[in-house]
Parts: sequence; structure tokens; C-alpha cells
Amino acid sequence: MVRAFSLLFLLGVMVGCKSIAPPTPLADLNAQQMHGHAVYQAHCAQCHYDRKDAALHGPALIGMFKKPYLSSGAPANDERVTATIVHGRNLMPAQGSTLDPQDLDDLLAYLHSL
Ligand code: HEC
Repeated sequence: MVRAFSLLFLLGVMVGCKSIAPPTPLADLNAQQMHGHAVYQAHCAQCHYDRKDAALHGPALIGMFKKPYLSSGAPANDERVTATIVHGRNLMPAQGSTLDPQDLDDLLAYLHSL
């Protein structure tokens, strides 16, 4: 009974996720997105999952630009996400001084592939 229930739940989750396209496979990233992925690994991966829908220290970033809102309820757009990265947010440290504009651009391109 419990098992049938979890199976149903899992099915619901899978069906629910189907409405959002999966991230672009790493092997299919273009050069800019690949550099953005390296920036992500160096600056974001310790606190956020990018390809798994689970929270780490911060919310999962999978599909972040495919949904209308970020976990805070702020609109999921480049301006808002850039501001979060540059200035930080609550427990998320500001990264404005460690990322140059090119890194930031490439990181955004990678985040859009999720
Ligand atoms: C030290 C851990 C840490 C690092 C490193 C970190 N974050 Fe976060 N991030 C968080 C936490 C915690 C939150 C939740 C903040 C809140 O809303 O209270 C968050 C929130 C966010 C949000 C959601 C903002 C919103 O309005 O809901 C985005 C997008 C985000 N981070 C992207 C990134 C990116 C991109 C990087 C890499 C440049 C990064 N984070 C690096 C901890 C981190």
C-alpha cells in the first residue's frame, strides 16, 4: 500500500517535471556555456545543484529560467539573477568582485541551458 502510494507520488513528480524541458546535456553545450559551466563549478556548485531538483545550501537552479519566478518569488530574469550574484542575498555571498563581466555573461548563458 505504502509502496503503491510512493509509486504514484513518483509518477506525479515525473509527470510534473515533464512540462519543463530538461537541461541541455553537458556534451551539447556551446563554447560560452561550457565556460559558464566552469564558472558555475568554481563559484556556485558548492551551494546549488544545477541538474538535480533538490536544495543544497541554496535552492536548486535546474530549470530556473524556464519558470516565471525564482524561489524568493522574484521574477526569473537576467537582471534579477545578475543582481543576486553580484550583491548576494541573505546567506548567499556577493560574488561581484570575483567574477568579471565575461564570466558573468558566460555563467548566465550556462544557467539558461538548465
Ligand atoms: C555559500 C553558498 C552559496 C553560493 C556560493 C552561491 N549561492 Fe546562490 N543562494 C544561496 C542561498 C543560501 C540562497 C537563498 C537566499 C535566500 O533567498 O534567502 C541562494 C539563492 C540563489 C538564487 C535565488 C534568488 C532568489 O531571488 O530566489 C539564485 C538564482 C542563486 N542563488 C544563484 C547562484 C549562483 C548563480 C551562484 C554562483 C555565482 C550562487 N548562487 C552561489 C547560497 C549560495
